[in-house]
Amino acid sequence: MTANWAEDRVKVAPNHWLDIARPTSALSLITTVDAAGSMNAAPFATLVRVSQDPLHLAFTAAEDSDTCANIRATGEFAVNFIPFEEELLKQVLVAAHPWPGGVDEIAQARLTAFPAIKIAPPLLAQCYAHLELEAEWIKLWSGRCMIVGRVVAVSARADCLDDNQELIWEKTQPVHFWGSKRGPSFSQMGAPVTVLPD
Ligand SMILES: Cc1cc2nc3c(=O)[nH]c(=O)nc-3n(C[C@H](O)[C@H](O)[C@H](O)COP(=O)(O)O)c2cc1C
Repeated sequence: MTANWAEDRVKVAPNHWLDIARPTSALSLITTVDAAGSMNAAPFATLVRVSQDPLHLAFTAAEDSDTCANIRATGEFAVNFIPFEEELLKQVLVAAHPWPGGVDEIAQARLTAFPAIKIAPPLLAQCYAHLELEAEWIKLWSGRCMIVGRVVAVSARADCLDDNQELIWEKTQPVHFWGSKRGPSFSQMGAPVTVLPD
């Protein structure tokens, strides 16, 4: 893991955390560590914001996934938002491979980890923004593990934020995942368009 705080990142002030989490269901890599500190990363397309204030996000993982086991063991996870870059999306597919527990998926996918601000799971340098979360509650049902996390710190690539710490869409290029029916398919989220009522 890179030892120092990544030079091109800035901490986001709490009153702008929601601005980073606004494009809901953006594709992310969720990073966790196990009880011994081994790192894990896996992509998730279905993470959604469930409370704005205080900011909470929720997602589900397979009950037998390392992501579920690690969050149950440590109560922490980081959400790393992925920009639309074809080579990086290929790396994301490597991270999604069901590697055996203990295999460092971050290294397998040639991703770069650096320390988070408040939690043990690492952040990923290839991503444009990072949410750090503590699990608020976890429910197991029907082979799934549902996790609601409370955001405790946020950071982003400095060049992806404007003077008001809001995301610059052209720089971030968040991704939607369309599934794998014809092979893994992705699209770039469109730029926001303001529509006002008549
Ligand atoms: C682009 C992409 C998006 C994915 N999104 C989800 C998702 O939203 N929910 C889910 O349960 N699995 C999702 N997966 C599958 C997990 O990433 C995969 O099961 C992974 O192996 C879990 O890793 P882990 O055992 O290290 O936690 C996705 C896979 C890909 C390639």
